[in-house]
Order: sequence, then structure tokens, then C-alpha cells
Amino acid sequence: MEISSSPRLVLLVQMVMLSVVTVASIHSLASDESALLALKAYINPETQYILANNWTRATSVCNWIGVTCGGRPSRIIALNLSSMGLHGTIPPHIGNLSSLALLSLRNNSFYGSLPNEVSCLHSLKTMDFGFNNLTGEFPPWLWSLSELENLVLQGNDFLGTVPSSLSNITSLRRIDLSYNQLWGSISSSIFNVSSLQVIDLSFNRISGTLPADLANYLPELKELYLSGNQFYGQIPISLFYCRELQVLSLSSNDFTGTIPSDLGNSTMLNKLFLSRNRLDGLIPSSIGNCISLKEINFSENNLTDIETKWTKGKFRLGVDL
Ligand SMILES: *[C@@H]1O[C@H](CO)[C@@H](O)[C@H](O)[C@H]1NC(C)=O
Ligand SMILES: *[C@@H]1O[C@H](CO)[C@@H](O)[C@H](O)[C@H]1NC(C)=O
Ligand SMILES: *[C@@H]1O[C@H](CO)[C@@H](O)[C@H](O)[C@H]1NC(C)=O
Ligand SMILES: *[C@@H]1O[C@H](CO)[C@@H](O)[C@H](O)[C@H]1NC(C)=O
Ligand SMILES: *[C@@H]1O[C@H](CO)[C@@H](O)[C@H](O)[C@H]1NC(C)=O
Ligand SMILES: *[C@@H]1O[C@H](CO)[C@@H](O)[C@H](O)[C@H]1NC(C)=O
Ligand SMILES: *[C@@H]1O[C@H](CO)[C@@H](O)[C@H](O)[C@H]1NC(C)=O
Ligand SMILES: *[C@@H]1O[C@H](CO)[C@@H](O)[C@H](O)[C@H]1NC(C)=O
Ligand SMILES: *[C@@H]1O[C@H](CO)[C@@H](O)[C@H](O)[C@H]1NC(C)=O
Ligand SMILES: *[C@@H]1O[C@H](CO)[C@@H](O)[C@H](O)[C@H]1NC(C)=O
Repeated sequence: MEISSSPRLVLLVQMVMLSVVTVASIHSLASDESALLALKAYINPETQYILANNWTRATSVCNWIGVTCGGRPSRIIALNLSSMGLHGTIPPHIGNLSSLALLSLRNNSFYGSLPNEVSCLHSLKTMDFGFNNLTGEFPPWLWSLSELENLVLQGNDFLGTVPSSLSNITSLRRIDLSYNQLWGSISSSIFNVSSLQVIDLSFNRISGTLPADLANYLPELKELYLSGNQFYGQIPISLFYCRELQVLSLSSNDFTGTIPSDLGNSTMLNKLFLSRNRLDGLIPSSIGNCISLKEINFSENNLTDIETKWTKGKFRLGVDL
């Protein structure tokens, strides 16, 4: 065929092959080392502390503090720089650490936005940027990290609406977006990830009602934290379909109506925080079935009475009836 002899096509094929080879070999322990040296260069020299003389080419990158290597050929699989007092921005080079399974920069002063290149970290299982000063729109590409199990962005300044769907991260077990500046409302599709066990969206500016079918997709839900937002409407009965539910924290919102008596079906529940809402009516007697309850707080509502012989003394009280 005449087309196959076209020099252009041959060139194109060569270019494609070249780029495949390049992609396959671009990432190595050497490129991991360059990525960390780039990260170091983006950290304010006055706050490099232990990194200053430890992260140097004098020793193998696998011996650097905070670094764990693994696999064959050896690559960086974990980077944990938590609580090191580091002040800086995160360079795009971090996206070259393509074998990373754990990345924690928790409790430092990283600022600016997350570079899009973080979306290249396809092996990440744990991402913890908690308690830094990161800002920008909530990064939508996070959902391409399909292996992610733990996502912690707590205590930053992420802005914008709550993501509309998490359903691409089918292995996600824990998501903590608390203490940011997220707003908007939540749809049930956000929770359409049946592996989720812990959801923390507390202390943002999220409003709207909780979807009635909220919990239908969450057979494994153990902890739900939504305190300190602007949710209103009723507490959905479906929450108590979650048989594993251990913590329910809905304090400091605008929930109204009564506490569903289905509450008593959650026999694993051990913490129940409903203070500072506008709930009224009776505390259902079925609460007596919640045999694991250890801490409750119903204060600052309009709950008028207690239905039966449920004894206050059994619980750590925040009760103000
Ligand atoms: C860097 O820190 C690690 C962990 O504390 C230590 O094992 C290593 O010897 C240090 N390397 C240098 C060059 O100081
Ligand atoms: C990171 O390191 C800190 C301090 O060494 C440790 O307390 C923490 O558990 C580590 N985090 C992870 C996810 O391994
Ligand atoms: C955060 O890091 C600082 C060091 O920069 C440390 O003193 C403090 O204890 C850490 N806080 C937590 C909660 O780990
Ligand atoms: C690493 O990342 C940077 C920035 O994204 C890029 O310029 C560089 O070519 C990448 N590759 C290597 C091998 O460092
Ligand atoms: C950075 O974040 C910490 C909490 O993670 C906060 O206490 C501090 O005020 C923030 N600093 C700036 C400059 O925003
Ligand atoms: C989810 O995955 C599908 C197929 O892999 C992809 O087309 C879509 O863009 C992804 N959505 C997000 C939000 O990443
Ligand atoms: C939930 O996700 C599944 C696939 O994971 C999809 O088929 C279904 O339409 C989604 N439902 C909602 C309400 O988003
Ligand atoms: C709670 O249990 C009662 C009695 O078995 C049942 O009628 C009700 O549908 C259950 N509610 C939920 C939310 O599971
Ligand atoms: C409690 O009910 C009274 C009378 O209906 C109302 O005035 C008051 O605002 C309510 N308080 C709360 C915290 O909802
Ligand atoms: C109960 O909640 C109220 C209002 O949020 C708070 O002031 C009080 O300290 C809490 N009580 C306990 C025992 O935690």
C-alpha cells in the first residue's frame, strides 16, 4: 500500500515508539531523587531544618529521612514529611514519583495550590495534606487516582463546591475534607462508593438537605462527621440502615424535626452528637437499644422530654433537656 511507505508515517511510527520507550523509562530511582531535590528547592531554606544536610546526593535517596524505597527496581514508595515545620510550595516534579503509595506532608506550612501533576501518582493509596495552607479550587482530577484508600485534605483553605462524585475511586475508605472552605450542597452520588467507611466534611460551609437516600450506597459506613455546616431539614432515616455506624456527628447545623426512632437500629453507635440544631420532640426510647453508646450531646435543641426510662447517668452527658 502506498500509505505504508509514506516517510511521514514512518516518522510518526518512530515518534510514537520513541515516546512509548520514553514514558516507560522516564521514571526511575534517579528521577525520584531529582523530584525530591526539586521539592527541597521549593522549601524555604530557613525551614529546611533536617532536610538541609540530609537530603543530599552524598547518600542514596533511599536513606533520606522520610523516604521509604521498595520494589524491583527500587523506587520511592512512601514519602512522609509530617510535622517537620516545612514552609514552601509543592512543585510539579512530585508527579514523577510514580511508584508512591503513601504521601504525607501533614502538619507543615505548604501553601499555594496542588499541582495537577499529583494526578499522575496512580499508585497512591494514602494522600495526607492535612493541616497545611493549601488553597485553590478543590482539584477535580483527584478522582483519577483510582487506587486511593485514604484522602485527607483536612485543615487547609480549599475552596469551591463539594465534588459531585467520588464514584471513580472505588477503593476509597476514608475521606476527610474537614476545616476547609467548601460550599454548595451534596448529592447522593458523591457517596456512591460502597467501600467508604469514614466521611468527614465537618467545618465547611456546606448547606442544603441531606439526601433521603444518602446512606443507601454505604453499607460499610462507620463514621459520619458533618458538624459545623449549614445543613437543614430532617435527619434522614436511611442513615440508620448503616448497620456498622459508630459515630454520627451532626452538631452545629440547622437540622429540624424529630430524632428518628430508627436510631435504635444502630446498635454499634457509640458517639452521637446532635447539639446546636433545631430538633424538637422527644428523644426516642429506642435509643435504649444503642447498647454501645458512650458519648452523646443533645444540648441546644428544643428537645422537650425523654420518652422512657433511659438513664442519663449511663452516658457522658452533654444533655440539656
Ligand atoms: C538522614 O536521616 C536518616 C534518618 O534519620 C539517617 O538514617 C541518615 O543517616 C541521615 N543521612 C545523613 C547523610 O545525615
Ligand atoms: C509519618 O511520620 C510520623 C512521624 O514520624 C508518624 O507519626 C506518622 O504515623 C507517619 N504517617 C504515616 C501515614 O505513616
Ligand atoms: C505539628 O508540627 C510541629 C512542628 O512543626 C510540632 O511541634 C507539633 O507538635 C505538630 N502538631 C501535631 C498535632 O502533630
Ligand atoms: C519531572 O517533572 C518535571 C516537571 O513536571 C519535568 O520537567 C521533568 O522532565 C520530569 N522528569 C524527570 C525525569 O525528572
Ligand atoms: C496555616 O494553617 C494553619 C492550620 O493548619 C493555621 O493555623 C495558620 O493560621 C495558617 N497560616 C496562614 C498564613 O494562613
Ligand atoms: C471516571 O472514569 C471514567 C472512565 O474511566 C472517565 O471517563 C471519567 O472522566 C472519570 N471521571 C472523573 C471525574 O475523573
Ligand atoms: C453509582 O455508581 C454506579 C457505578 O459505580 C453507577 O452505575 C450508578 O449509576 C451510580 N448511581 C448514582 C446515583 O450515582
Ligand atoms: C429499624 O428496625 C425496625 C424494626 O425492625 C424496622 O421496621 C425499620 O425499618 C428499621 N429501620 C431502619 C432505618 O433500618
Ligand atoms: C425552640 O422553640 C421555641 C418555640 O417554638 C422557638 O422560639 C425557639 O427559637 C426554638 N429554639 C431553637 C434552638 O430551635
Ligand atoms: C455539648 O455541645 C455544646 C454545644 O455544641 C457544647 O457547648 C458542650 O460543651 C458539649 N458538651 C460536652 C459534654 O461535650
